Amino acid sequence: MSDTRALLAALRDGGDIAQAAFSEFATGLADHSVSDAQAGAFAMAALLKGLTREQRVALTLAMRDSGDVLSWQLDRPVLDKHSTGGIGDCVSLLLAPALAACGAAVPMVSGRGLGHTGGTLDKLEAIPGFKTGLNESEFKSIVAKSHLAIVSASANIAPADKRLYAIRDVTATVESLDLITASILSKKLAAGLGSLVLDVKTGSGAFMKTLDDSRALAKSLVKTANAAGCRTSALITDMSQPLVPSLGNALEIAEVMRALKDPRKTPLLDTSAALGGVVLADAGLSENAQSGAEAILTAVQSGAAAEAFGRMVHAQGGPVQFLENWQRFLPEANNIRELRAPEAGYISAYEGERLGLAVVHLGGGRSVETDKIDPAVGLTDLLPLGTYVNKGDPIARIHASREDQATQAATEVFGSITIGAKPEIPPLIYERIS
Ligand code: URA
Repeated sequence: MSDTRALLAALRDGGDIAQAAFSEFATGLADHSVSDAQAGAFAMAALLKGLTREQRVALTLAMRDSGDVLSWQLDRPVLDKHSTGGIGDCVSLLLAPALAACGAAVPMVSGRGLGHTGGTLDKLEAIPGFKTGLNESEFKSIVAKSHLAIVSASANIAPADKRLYAIRDVTATVESLDLITASILSKKLAAGLGSLVLDVKTGSGAFMKTLDDSRALAKSLVKTANAAGCRTSALITDMSQPLVPSLGNALEIAEVMRALKDPRKTPLLDTSAALGGVVLADAGLSENAQSGAEAILTAVQSGAAAEAFGRMVHAQGGPVQFLENWQRFLPEANNIRELRAPEAGYISAYEGERLGLAVVHLGGGRSVETDKIDPAVGLTDLLPLGTYVNKGDPIARIHASREDQATQAATEVFGSITIGAKPEIPPLIYERIS
């Protein structure tokens, strides 16, 4: 109690704080010997005063060590990718099996949908029987055998973060760059990674809407993760439009299956190859990011990534025949409604957050934690920015379980798409931060 008070006073006054003080604080968060009031004061002081670089690393390590930290004895590099979240962002589902096919072990601890963005776990759970809640020994044995598993964090991964995150949520301190950094990395680093690539999204469908904010987050994450001992780079990638033409859980799995079975040059494949190239090079599995990106493309085009995906589905409880017959297994919505352009012009902008929320309101995401997801619902046939449409041309298709939900989604989707002047098309990848 008095130690926590001393830590808070030092944070308030800009004094020195030893690593041990952060460790005791994180342990106290996890075992509740630090009170809600103290945790709230910590979050607010961190937001208002900021942490030094050393303090940010110390907090990240302390939160990582507040629970289980995995270690691996494998004959291949252990690596992972993390996205800050977006709409139609199914990169993990294509990239993770491609990385495994390129000689990496990928123990991916993933998240669920947050706000307007979808989550990898919710998408995978659209596959009948797919289990994301593996215990540690199941997780380790699948990764040892198949080199790939995608799971939810167990209750004891970074428990200090779970507590602090809930308190940030109710004390208006979620926005702190220092606390976001420690929160994301404490969970990722607890998976015992050797290398990590971060996909920091920017644009209307991302949490960080401007390039400056995304750059600041990328730099903070990269510096902190490297100082914490995990070789890490980031790419800032575009999220001013959906990465694939479909949003929704089963609908995005379908996009991934099409990309794995019939690989063409698409924003999804190009973004995955760029991110994969960086982490393969960082892990020493390719000479440089360019040859790493080519290795990812080859893994997808040869079918090796598809096979790794099929093995993962089977190992985690999904259908053995999923790879061959995926259309048969994915749930479909009853009400499909086509939306047509109200006027002629170019698809000139997406309001990404609003579009993502339309899917949440259809039942494809959660408004409160206890909401049950409907895996079948969402949107398809969204057009790339810069597409010219005539009045009456299709611009999207809504997949709903009820008529009234389709009607509400139609209003939201029309409100999220601007048809007008020819837009400037943003680059897929803005820059690399190493
Ligand atoms: N994701 C996290 O895990 N933590 C944050 O603070 C923000 C996004």
